[in-house]
Amino acid sequence: MKRVETLFTGRVYHKGEFKEACIGVDNGIISFIGKEANAPSYDEKVDFKGLFIIPGLIDIHAHLRGMRLNYKEDFLSGTSAAAAGGFTLVFDMPNTDPPTNSRLRLMEKTEEAETQIIIDIGFYFGKPEEVSEAEKLVKTHAIGLKLYPEDYSKSIQPNIVEIVNIVRKNGKRIVFHPEDASIIERNRKAYPDMLKGVDKHSFIRNVETELSALDIFYRTFGAGAHATHLTTVESIMKARANRFTYDVSVNHLALTNNDLLTQGGICKVNPPLRSFEERKALIEAFNEGRIAILITDHAPHTLEEKNMTLYDEIPSGIPCFETAFSVLLDMVHKAGLNIYRLVEAFTRGPAEFLGDKKLGTVSEGSIANLTVFNPKEEWKVDPEEFYTKAKHSPFAGRVLRGRVKATVIRGVVVFQDGEIKVQKGFGKIYGINNY
Ligand code: NCD
Ligand code: ZN
Ligand code: ZN
Repeated sequence: MKRVETLFTGRVYHKGEFKEACIGVDNGIISFIGKEANAPSYDEKVDFKGLFIIPGLIDIHAHLRGMRLNYKEDFLSGTSAAAAGGFTLVFDMPNTDPPTNSRLRLMEKTEEAETQIIIDIGFYFGKPEEVSEAEKLVKTHAIGLKLYPEDYSKSIQPNIVEIVNIVRKNGKRIVFHPEDASIIERNRKAYPDMLKGVDKHSFIRNVETELSALDIFYRTFGAGAHATHLTTVESIMKARANRFTYDVSVNHLALTNNDLLTQGGICKVNPPLRSFEERKALIEAFNEGRIAILITDHAPHTLEEKNMTLYDEIPSGIPCFETAFSVLLDMVHKAGLNIYRLVEAFTRGPAEFLGDKKLGTVSEGSIANLTVFNPKEEWKVDPEEFYTKAKHSPFAGRVLRGRVKATVIRGVVVFQDGEIKVQKGFGKIYGINNY
């Protein structure tokens, strides 16, 4: 058998089971999985004995910011946080400053990211001004178009249907944020202009807002799109009826409106956190296998911004790369979350969304991306220790059971025991140079 560069050992998730095994990696690709006795010779052995090894986590929805939003997050801080959370590949959203809605801006952002990233990342583009710009964007490395409520749910711009069709025709993804901007505007009017605090957030952006958007999108563009961060089982049923694929964020599986009421701006996120009952039903749906993809929606804002007084001033979004997977492992112990579904929803599910056969499983011929965790280790969340610039979390002070111990990308350990192990720029851009 051919000698390999590295042999990793541990409890490996392979074909739906955890088993003591070795993974041989050569040139960034898995070339052997099996018992140590049968393993090929190697240059280096990385012993993760006692720890669990799963395919590298993939997040198809995150905000790495950069450019003029560098003060919230940059590509180094964001991808370091992602590595520390066990993520090997994340997809960055285009709601940046300036917005990523032209070929030139995508190229500028890619150039800024390339020299800073610790893990691999990919991009979405936002709604371009012109149809001709869409023609250029579909020829780039970006995986698809992200549409926001203003893009499709208020007044419908004449060229948007044509743009969506160009993106579809070129085999790129269409992902949309399902909230109806007209309903939000109407609901907001029921409260004073100088509304303080976030207590009314889930009334202003109620479930009806989400359901309505799922119908508007279907009526305007038809099936064949991906609805991101669904918050209730009712929305899942509507998305399925409209033949959309969909995902759910860790925030909505782990938190409720009660966390918003007790913690305030820190827990303000769009769409809002829902009731205890709705979250419970979501967990049941997850365990029944009705949620194939989980996302972090890591959305960093500074603590100062999250501590503002007025409702409209407090930005929505929760930074959660460094807690997401651990919070879910904790829920395996405390809320009966199914660990197999959990692993699949952050690995194989996203890989299928990407249509990428080299990702999402530990198998021979796959890219050697691995996430290593200890399901029993307990740790206390301290946002001061985060790599993200957003030093706050709904989980601050909580003791979580289950911790990411290492992250491996293309056979290289990029994060281990709290430390980043590679130079910035190690990460690659998805879609460029045969990746
Ligand atoms: C996101 C952000 O901060 O960019 N905020 C959020 O509340 N989820 C935007 C988004 O995903 O809608
Ligand atoms: Zn969104
Ligand atoms: Zn988002």
